[in-house]
Amino acid sequence: MTNNITSQLSRLYQDSSKHSMYQSIPSFVQEKLGYTEVINEEWRGDTARYNYILEFFEKSDFSSVLDIGANTGFFSHSLAYEFPSLKVTALEPNINHANFITEINDIFKLGNMDIINKSLGIDDVIKFDSKFDSSLLLNVLHHAGVEFDIGKINTEIEFWDYFRNFLNSYSISPTIIIQVGYNWGGNKLKPIIKPDCLYDMFLQLLTNINQSCWKATNVAYYNSEFKKYIDVPNALITPQQNQELKEEVACWFKSMKIEANSEFYKRPILIITKN
Ligand SMILES: C[S@@+](CC[C@H](N)C(=O)[O-])C[C@H]1O[C@@H](n2cnc3c(N)ncnc32)[C@H](O)[C@@H]1O
Repeated sequence: MTNNITSQLSRLYQDSSKHSMYQSIPSFVQEKLGYTEVINEEWRGDTARYNYILEFFEKSDFSSVLDIGANTGFFSHSLAYEFPSLKVTALEPNINHANFITEINDIFKLGNMDIINKSLGIDDVIKFDSKFDSSLLLNVLHHAGVEFDIGKINTEIEFWDYFRNFLNSYSISPTIIIQVGYNWGGNKLKPIIKPDCLYDMFLQLLTNINQSCWKATNVAYYNSEFKKYIDVPNALITPQQNQELKEEVACWFKSMKIEANSEFYKRPILIITKN
Protein backbone atom coordinates (compact mmCIF):
# COMPACT_ATOMS: atom_id res chain seq x y z
CA MET A 1 0.00 0.00 0.00
CA THR A 2 1.44 3.33 -1.01
CA ASN A 3 1.76 6.33 1.31
CA ASN A 4 -0.49 8.19 -1.11
CA ILE A 5 -3.42 5.88 -0.43
CA THR A 6 -2.83 5.96 3.33
CA SER A 7 -2.75 9.74 3.42
CA GLN A 8 -5.83 9.97 1.19
CA LEU A 9 -7.70 7.63 3.59
CA SER A 10 -6.52 9.65 6.61
CA ARG A 11 -7.53 12.93 4.99
CA LEU A 12 -11.05 11.66 4.32
CA TYR A 13 -11.30 10.07 7.77
CA GLN A 14 -10.01 13.10 9.72
CA ASP A 15 -12.15 15.69 7.96
CA SER A 16 -12.80 17.77 11.12
CA SER A 17 -16.58 17.34 10.89
CA LYS A 18 -18.75 16.63 13.93
CA HIS A 19 -18.55 12.85 13.53
CA SER A 20 -14.98 12.74 12.31
CA MET A 21 -12.50 10.33 13.97
CA TYR A 22 -15.43 8.40 15.40
CA GLN A 23 -15.17 4.78 14.28
CA SER A 24 -12.37 2.26 14.39
CA ILE A 25 -10.78 0.90 11.24
CA PRO A 26 -12.00 -2.70 10.65
CA SER A 27 -9.44 -5.31 11.66
CA PHE A 28 -9.19 -6.79 8.13
CA VAL A 29 -8.28 -3.32 6.79
CA GLN A 30 -5.70 -2.82 9.55
CA GLU A 31 -4.17 -6.23 8.92
CA LYS A 32 -4.09 -6.10 5.14
CA LEU A 33 -3.24 -2.43 4.60
CA GLY A 34 -1.25 -1.71 7.74
CA TYR A 35 -3.40 1.41 8.09
CA THR A 36 -5.21 2.41 11.25
CA GLU A 37 -6.61 5.35 13.21
CA VAL A 38 -6.49 5.48 16.99
CA ILE A 39 -9.76 5.40 18.93
CA ASN A 40 -9.79 5.27 22.71
CA GLU A 41 -12.15 2.35 23.27
CA GLU A 42 -12.18 2.97 27.02
CA TRP A 43 -14.92 5.58 26.67
CA ARG A 44 -16.42 4.86 23.23
CA GLY A 45 -15.80 2.00 20.88
CA ASP A 46 -16.85 -0.36 18.17
CA THR A 47 -15.25 -3.72 18.95
CA ALA A 48 -17.76 -4.81 21.59
CA ARG A 49 -20.68 -3.42 19.56
CA TYR A 50 -19.50 -5.26 16.48
CA ASN A 51 -19.04 -8.55 18.34
CA TYR A 52 -22.62 -8.32 19.62
CA ILE A 53 -23.98 -7.49 16.16
CA LEU A 54 -21.83 -10.17 14.51
CA GLU A 55 -23.19 -12.82 16.88
CA PHE A 56 -26.73 -11.74 16.01
CA PHE A 57 -26.03 -11.84 12.25
CA GLU A 58 -24.46 -15.30 12.59
CA LYS A 59 -27.72 -16.57 14.15
CA SER A 60 -29.95 -14.75 11.65
CA ASP A 61 -30.62 -15.44 8.05
CA PHE A 62 -30.37 -11.91 6.67
CA SER A 63 -29.51 -11.40 3.04
CA SER A 64 -29.36 -7.60 3.24
CA VAL A 65 -28.68 -4.77 5.68
CA LEU A 66 -29.00 -0.98 5.48
CA ASP A 67 -26.50 0.85 7.72
CA ILE A 68 -28.01 4.30 8.37
CA GLY A 69 -25.39 6.82 9.46
CA ALA A 70 -22.62 4.45 8.41
CA ASN A 71 -19.93 7.04 9.29
CA THR A 72 -16.62 5.67 7.94
CA GLY A 73 -18.13 2.24 7.34
CA PHE A 74 -16.79 0.23 10.26
CA PHE A 75 -19.95 -1.88 10.58
CA SER A 76 -20.73 -1.98 6.85
CA HIS A 77 -17.23 -3.03 5.84
CA SER A 78 -16.84 -5.52 8.68
CA LEU A 79 -20.16 -7.21 7.84
CA ALA A 80 -19.59 -7.13 4.06
CA TYR A 81 -16.16 -8.71 4.50
CA GLU A 82 -17.38 -11.34 6.98
CA PHE A 83 -20.48 -12.30 4.97
CA PRO A 84 -19.69 -12.15 1.22
CA SER A 85 -23.27 -13.11 0.33
CA LEU A 86 -24.81 -10.36 2.50
CA LYS A 87 -25.82 -7.26 0.50
CA VAL A 88 -24.70 -4.26 2.56
CA THR A 89 -25.82 -0.71 1.85
CA ALA A 90 -24.06 2.08 3.72
CA LEU A 91 -25.99 5.34 3.93
CA GLU A 92 -23.88 8.30 5.01
CA PRO A 93 -24.47 12.02 4.32
CA ASN A 94 -20.89 13.18 4.93
CA ILE A 95 -19.24 13.16 1.48
CA ASN A 96 -15.71 12.64 2.80
CA HIS A 97 -16.80 9.67 4.86
CA ALA A 98 -18.86 8.27 1.98
CA ASN A 99 -15.72 8.60 -0.20
CA PHE A 100 -13.68 6.88 2.51
CA ILE A 101 -16.14 3.97 2.39
CA THR A 102 -15.87 3.86 -1.43
CA GLU A 103 -12.04 3.86 -1.30
CA ILE A 104 -12.02 0.85 1.03
CA ASN A 105 -14.57 -0.92 -1.16
CA ASP A 106 -12.42 -0.33 -4.22
CA ILE A 107 -9.22 -1.50 -2.53
CA PHE A 108 -10.86 -4.70 -1.26
CA LYS A 109 -13.22 -5.13 -4.23
CA LEU A 110 -16.17 -5.55 -1.90
CA GLY A 111 -18.74 -6.33 -4.59
CA ASN A 112 -21.52 -6.87 -2.05
CA MET A 113 -21.52 -3.24 -0.86
CA ASP A 114 -23.31 -0.10 -2.06
CA ILE A 115 -23.03 3.45 -0.79
CA ILE A 116 -25.76 6.06 -0.68
CA ASN A 117 -24.43 9.55 0.06
CA LYS A 118 -27.50 11.17 1.61
CA SER A 119 -29.25 12.06 4.81
CA LEU A 120 -32.33 10.11 5.80
CA GLY A 121 -35.06 12.11 7.52
CA ILE A 122 -38.53 11.00 8.49
CA ASP A 123 -40.03 12.05 5.11
CA ASP A 124 -37.32 10.12 3.25
CA VAL A 125 -38.09 7.06 5.35
CA ILE A 126 -41.70 7.15 4.20
CA LYS A 127 -40.67 7.47 0.53
CA PHE A 128 -37.73 5.04 0.62
CA ASP A 129 -38.61 2.33 -1.87
CA SER A 130 -35.84 -0.26 -1.34
CA LYS A 131 -36.41 -3.01 1.20
CA PHE A 132 -33.85 -4.74 3.38
CA ASP A 133 -33.93 -7.65 5.83
CA SER A 134 -32.33 -5.57 8.56
CA SER A 135 -31.15 -2.06 9.40
CA LEU A 136 -28.50 -0.62 11.66
CA LEU A 137 -29.68 2.66 13.18
CA LEU A 138 -26.87 3.29 15.61
CA ASN A 139 -26.55 6.65 17.33
CA VAL A 140 -28.34 8.68 14.67
CA LEU A 141 -31.83 9.49 15.98
CA HIS A 142 -30.76 11.63 18.95
CA HIS A 143 -29.28 14.04 16.37
CA ALA A 144 -32.72 14.64 14.80
CA GLY A 145 -33.77 18.27 15.02
CA VAL A 146 -30.13 19.33 15.32
CA GLU A 147 -28.46 17.80 12.24
CA PHE A 148 -31.50 16.78 10.22
CA ASP A 149 -35.29 17.02 10.41
CA ILE A 150 -34.78 20.57 11.67
CA GLY A 151 -38.11 21.91 12.89
CA LYS A 152 -39.62 18.43 13.25
CA ILE A 153 -38.31 18.27 16.81
CA ASN A 154 -37.65 21.57 18.53
CA THR A 155 -36.46 20.62 22.00
CA GLU A 156 -35.15 17.53 23.74
CA ILE A 157 -38.57 17.19 25.40
CA GLU A 158 -40.13 16.37 22.01
CA PHE A 159 -37.68 13.55 21.34
CA TRP A 160 -39.91 10.60 22.23
CA ASP A 161 -42.79 11.77 20.02
CA TYR A 162 -40.33 12.06 17.15
CA PHE A 163 -38.85 8.64 17.98
CA ARG A 164 -42.29 6.96 17.86
CA ASN A 165 -43.21 8.76 14.64
CA PHE A 166 -39.93 7.73 13.06
CA LEU A 167 -40.45 4.08 13.98
CA ASN A 168 -44.09 4.15 12.86
CA SER A 169 -42.95 5.52 9.48
CA TYR A 170 -40.22 2.92 9.10
CA SER A 171 -40.99 0.01 6.82
CA ILE A 172 -37.58 -0.32 5.14
CA SER A 173 -36.84 -3.53 7.09
CA PRO A 174 -38.65 -5.72 9.65
CA THR A 175 -35.67 -5.74 12.03
CA ILE A 176 -33.65 -2.78 13.33
CA ILE A 177 -30.59 -2.81 15.56
CA ILE A 178 -30.87 0.52 17.28
CA GLN A 179 -28.85 2.62 19.70
CA VAL A 180 -29.75 6.08 21.01
CA GLY A 181 -27.63 8.59 22.96
CA TYR A 182 -28.75 10.27 26.17
CA ASN A 183 -27.99 13.82 25.00
CA TRP A 184 -29.96 15.61 22.30
CA GLY A 185 -27.60 16.35 19.40
CA GLY A 186 -24.78 15.10 21.63
CA ASN A 187 -25.16 18.23 23.79
CA LYS A 188 -24.63 17.40 27.48
CA LEU A 189 -26.64 20.50 28.44
CA LYS A 190 -29.70 19.10 26.72
CA PRO A 191 -30.17 15.54 27.96
CA ILE A 192 -33.13 13.60 26.62
CA ILE A 193 -32.59 11.47 29.71
CA LYS A 194 -29.80 12.17 32.20
CA PRO A 195 -27.06 9.54 31.72
CA ASP A 196 -27.30 8.70 35.45
CA CYS A 197 -30.90 7.64 34.97
CA LEU A 198 -30.30 4.26 33.41
CA TYR A 199 -33.69 2.87 34.24
CA ASP A 200 -35.52 5.91 32.79
CA MET A 201 -33.80 5.43 29.43
CA PHE A 202 -34.53 1.68 29.52
CA LEU A 203 -38.20 2.36 30.31
CA GLN A 204 -38.63 5.15 27.74
CA LEU A 205 -37.09 3.04 25.01
CA LEU A 206 -39.25 0.00 25.77
CA THR A 207 -42.43 2.04 26.25
CA ASN A 208 -42.05 4.07 23.06
CA ILE A 209 -41.02 1.09 20.96
CA ASN A 210 -44.05 -0.77 22.28
CA GLN A 211 -46.34 2.20 21.56
CA SER A 212 -45.14 2.17 17.94
CA CYS A 213 -45.57 -0.86 15.75
CA TRP A 214 -42.35 -2.51 17.01
CA LYS A 215 -41.26 -4.70 19.89
CA ALA A 216 -37.86 -5.19 21.50
CA THR A 217 -36.56 -8.75 21.40
CA ASN A 218 -33.16 -7.93 22.93
CA VAL A 219 -31.77 -5.13 25.07
CA ALA A 220 -28.05 -5.39 25.74
CA TYR A 221 -25.67 -3.33 27.88
CA TYR A 222 -21.90 -3.11 27.91
CA ASN A 223 -20.14 -4.96 30.69
CA SER A 224 -16.67 -3.51 31.27
CA GLU A 225 -15.33 -6.61 33.00
CA PHE A 226 -16.01 -8.92 30.06
CA LYS A 227 -15.77 -6.07 27.50
CA LYS A 228 -18.93 -7.25 25.81
CA TYR A 229 -22.62 -6.43 25.49
CA ILE A 230 -24.80 -8.72 27.57
CA ASP A 231 -28.54 -9.16 27.10
CA VAL A 232 -30.89 -8.08 29.88
CA PRO A 233 -32.82 -11.25 30.85
CA ASN A 234 -35.89 -11.64 28.65
CA ALA A 235 -38.33 -11.58 31.56
CA LEU A 236 -37.19 -8.02 32.38
CA ILE A 237 -37.63 -6.41 28.98
CA THR A 238 -41.39 -6.25 29.00
CA PRO A 239 -42.72 -2.69 28.54
CA GLN A 240 -45.32 -3.43 31.26
CA GLN A 241 -42.93 -2.51 34.05
CA ASN A 242 -43.95 -2.42 37.71
CA GLN A 243 -42.12 -1.67 40.95
CA GLU A 244 -40.91 -5.25 41.31
CA LEU A 245 -39.51 -5.37 37.76
CA LYS A 246 -37.95 -1.94 38.21
CA GLU A 247 -36.08 -3.25 41.24
CA GLU A 248 -34.96 -6.36 39.37
CA VAL A 249 -33.70 -4.28 36.44
CA ALA A 250 -31.87 -1.93 38.83
CA CYS A 251 -30.35 -4.99 40.51
CA TRP A 252 -29.22 -6.34 37.12
CA PHE A 253 -27.66 -2.96 36.22
CA LYS A 254 -25.82 -3.03 39.53
CA SER A 255 -24.54 -6.58 39.06
CA MET A 256 -23.27 -5.61 35.59
CA LYS A 257 -21.76 -2.34 36.92
CA ILE A 258 -23.48 -0.35 34.15
CA GLU A 259 -23.54 2.84 36.30
CA ALA A 260 -19.74 3.03 36.08
CA ASN A 261 -19.76 3.05 32.26
CA SER A 262 -19.15 6.16 30.15
CA GLU A 263 -22.25 7.80 28.64
CA PHE A 264 -21.56 5.96 25.38
CA TYR A 265 -21.29 2.56 27.04
CA LYS A 266 -24.46 3.28 29.03
CA ARG A 267 -26.41 3.30 25.75
CA PRO A 268 -28.10 -0.05 25.28
CA ILE A 269 -28.17 -1.82 21.93
CA LEU A 270 -31.70 -2.94 21.14
CA ILE A 271 -32.88 -5.39 18.54
CA ILE A 272 -36.41 -4.55 17.54
CA THR A 273 -38.81 -6.29 15.18
CA LYS A 274 -42.00 -5.15 13.55
CA ASN A 275 -45.24 -6.36 15.16
C1 LIG B 1 -22.80 9.56 16.04
S1 LIG B 1 -22.41 9.00 14.45
C2 LIG B 1 -22.77 7.27 14.57
C3 LIG B 1 -22.05 6.45 13.53
C4 LIG B 1 -22.38 4.97 13.53
N1 LIG B 1 -23.75 4.73 13.22
C5 LIG B 1 -22.00 4.35 14.83
O1 LIG B 1 -22.81 4.18 15.73
O2 LIG B 1 -20.81 4.02 14.97
C6 LIG B 1 -23.78 9.57 13.50
C7 LIG B 1 -23.62 9.33 12.03
O3 LIG B 1 -24.87 9.53 11.39
C8 LIG B 1 -24.70 10.36 10.27
N2 LIG B 1 -25.99 11.04 10.08
C9 LIG B 1 -26.41 12.17 10.66
N3 LIG B 1 -27.66 12.46 10.25
C10 LIG B 1 -28.03 11.46 9.41
C11 LIG B 1 -29.19 11.19 8.68
N4 LIG B 1 -30.26 11.98 8.72
N5 LIG B 1 -29.24 10.08 7.92
C12 LIG B 1 -28.18 9.25 7.89
N6 LIG B 1 -27.04 9.47 8.56
C13 LIG B 1 -26.98 10.55 9.32
C14 LIG B 1 -23.53 11.25 10.62
O4 LIG B 1 -22.92 11.81 9.47
C15 LIG B 1 -22.63 10.28 11.35
O5 LIG B 1 -21.81 9.54 10.50
